Amino acid sequence: VPTLLHLDSSANRSRESVTRQLTALFAETWRTQHGSAGYRYRDLVANPVPHIDTAYCALGRRVERHDVSSQAEVATLIESPAEQREWARTQPLVAELLATDTVVIGAPMYNLSISASLKAWIDRVNFPAMFKEPGTRRSLLHDTTIVVISARGGAYGAGTPNEACDFQTPYLRAYFGKQGVAAENLFFVCAEMAVADLIPRLAPFRSLAKSSLAAARSEVTSLAQCRLRDCGQIA
Ligand SMILES: Cc1cc2nc3c(=O)[nH]c(=O)nc-3n(C[C@H](O)[C@H](O)[C@H](O)COP(=O)(O)O)c2cc1C
Repeated sequence: VPTLLHLDSSANRSRESVTRQLTALFAETWRTQHGSAGYRYRDLVANPVPHIDTAYCALGRRVERHDVSSQAEVATLIESPAEQREWARTQPLVAELLATDTVVIGAPMYNLSISASLKAWIDRVNFPAMFKEPGTRRSLLHDTTIVVISARGGAYGAGTPNEACDFQTPYLRAYFGKQGVAAENLFFVCAEMAVADLIPRLAPFRSLAKSSLAAARSEVTSLAQCRLRDCGQIA
């Protein structure tokens, strides 16, 4: 069964949220194609991933020292109830990610970067050595498709004055690339000027916002229909 993990991380849980609208469109379109059996949803705001702590770090360092590379082996290295709790918070998220073919991530730009709720998921799921195949050290995420759907109040595209201030999509591209996700499996869709409708001084940008959202909706639909190769890389 094809599997989709749908993550939302906008603090705005209302229908206003652009990333939530777009990830929902992706999920709906994907389910029409593939059915609901392999669909998983995680709202990182309604059910926040707890921030990592001292015990997570201690267990992580021990795992690295012992050169462990399987979830089962990690469990044998646990030395305290605090480490047990941290692993119980971490392991299901790791297993969920590794069991997924496609991950769609709603990623609002907050203060030039990603939301803290998404970062908390990344920090926890990225437990040492979990993404490497034991023996070969090949990335277990190599064939995972990652679709990042972002929204931002401003515009950060190539040639804009804010281009160098985008620490959101370049960060996620670098992060997933470093984890071994193949470049051809990494997709970015972005709605810009997403607050132009709400802020009077941004009224001149409303048509830009509208066309950016319309383009994002059509890219999302294409990607969810698995016309990935036809779309090519969406920057
Ligand atoms: C806490 C916070 C910080 C934000 N920081 C930025 C920013 O640095 N640059 C920007 O262009 N927009 C910024 N915005 C606007 C959001 O990126 C924009 O509203 C986007 O639509 C949020 O995604 P959502 O609609 O899914 O909630 C910020 C919004 C919030 C709530």
